Amino acid sequence: MASGRHEKDDTRALSLGTKAVICLSVAAVTFSLLKLKKTLMDSRSRTLRKTCGVLKKVSSSRRVAIVTGAASGIGRATALRFLELGYSVACVDINVGAMRSLRQEIESSVNIPNENVHYLTCNLAIEEQVKNVVRSTVSHFGRLDAAFNNAGIEGVRASISDLSVDDYDAVMNTNARSVFLCMKYEIEQMLIQKTRTLSAEANLQNEDVAPIDRFGYTIVNSASTAGLSSMPEFSAYCASKHAIVGLTKCAAKEYANSGIRCNAICPSTVATPMVARFQHNWPTWQRKQNASFPVGRVGRASEIANAVAWLCSSQCPFLTGEMMIIDGASSA
Ligand SMILES: NC(=O)c1ccc[n+]([C@@H]2O[C@H](COP(=O)([O-])OP(=O)(O)OC[C@H]3O[C@@H](n4cnc5c(N)ncnc54)[C@H](O)[C@@H]3O)[C@@H](O)[C@H]2O)c1
Repeated sequence: MASGRHEKDDTRALSLGTKAVICLSVAAVTFSLLKLKKTLMDSRSRTLRKTCGVLKKVSSSRRVAIVTGAASGIGRATALRFLELGYSVACVDINVGAMRSLRQEIESSVNIPNENVHYLTCNLAIEEQVKNVVRSTVSHFGRLDAAFNNAGIEGVRASISDLSVDDYDAVMNTNARSVFLCMKYEIEQMLIQKTRTLSAEANLQNEDVAPIDRFGYTIVNSASTAGLSSMPEFSAYCASKHAIVGLTKCAAKEYANSGIRCNAICPSTVATPMVARFQHNWPTWQRKQNASFPVGRVGRASEIANAVAWLCSSQCPFLTGEMMIIDGASSA
C-alpha cells in the first residue's frame, strides 16, 4: 500500500512537472514567435520606408535650389519667385522670427505646395552649419541644382581708423566667408551628382555635348555695386563684396568645364529692410540716393529676383563669370 501511494505521488509530481515544463515551453515558443513577428514587421516597415524614400528622391524631377537670407528683402523675393517657377526651395536664414513670417506667408498661399519648401535656420558664417544646410537639402529633396548665396549684413558706418576689428570681422564673416562656405559645399554636392550622372550614362555617347549644356547647375552670389567700386565709411561691406566678386570669378573658371555656372549680381540700391536701416541711420543718404538715380527710383526686390531666376534658368548656358550690374543705369 505504502509503495502504491508513493507511486501515485510520484506520478502526480511527474505530471505536475511535465505540465510546468510544457507551459514554460509554450510560453517560450509564443514569446519567440511574437519577437520574430515584431522583427519581421520592423524590417518590413524599414524596407518600406527606405523604398518610399528612394522613390521620393528618384521621382522628383523639380529643380532644387538653396536660397540664403531667404527670410527678408531680395532673398525672400527670390525664394518666392523660385517657388512660383516650380522649384523646390531650401529657405535658409538666421532670423527665427522672419523665417516664421515667411513660413506663414507660404503656407497661406494657394499657389505654393508646402512640400516644395524646406526651412533651415542657421548661421552661415559657421562651417558645420553650412555643411548641414547642403546635407539637409539633399536628404530632403534628393539633390541640388541651383543656389542663391545672398545672406548679408551692412555692418556699422565708420571710417577705417574708427572701425573696430570685431565689426570688420562680423561683416567679412557673414558676407564673404559665408559665400565661400556655401560655394564649397554646394559645388562638392554638384560634382558628386555629375559623377553619378556620368557613370549612369556610361554607355551613352554624350562626349559632343559640353558639360555646361548637360548639367544645368548654377550658382548666383549676391555682391553689389560696392563690390566693383568704393563705398566710403562702409569699407568692410565694400571689401566683403569685392571678395565675393573674386570668389565668383574664380569659381566660374574652375568649374566651367564641370557644368557649373557661377555668376554674381551687383545691385545698387534696392528697397529692402537693409536699405531701410541705412536710411534710418543715415538720413542724408536717402535724399542723395533718390536724386541720383537716372530712372528716378531705387530698385525693387522682385526685379532682382527675376534677374536671379533668369541667371539660374536654362536660357543662358554660355553666361558664366558674369558680374551683373542692376543699378538703373547709375554706373553707365
Ligand atoms: N538692398 C540693397 O540695396 C542691396 C544692394 C546690393 C547688394 N545687396 C545685397 O543683397 C543681399 C540681401 O540684402 P537685402 O537688402 O535683402 O537685406 P536684408 O537685411 O533684407 O536680408 C538679409 C537677410 O540675410 C540674413 N542673414 C544675415 N546674416 C546671416 C547669417 N549669418 N546667416 C544666415 N542668414 C543671415 C538676415 O537675417 C536677412 O534675412 C545682401 O548680401 C546685400 O549685401 C543689397
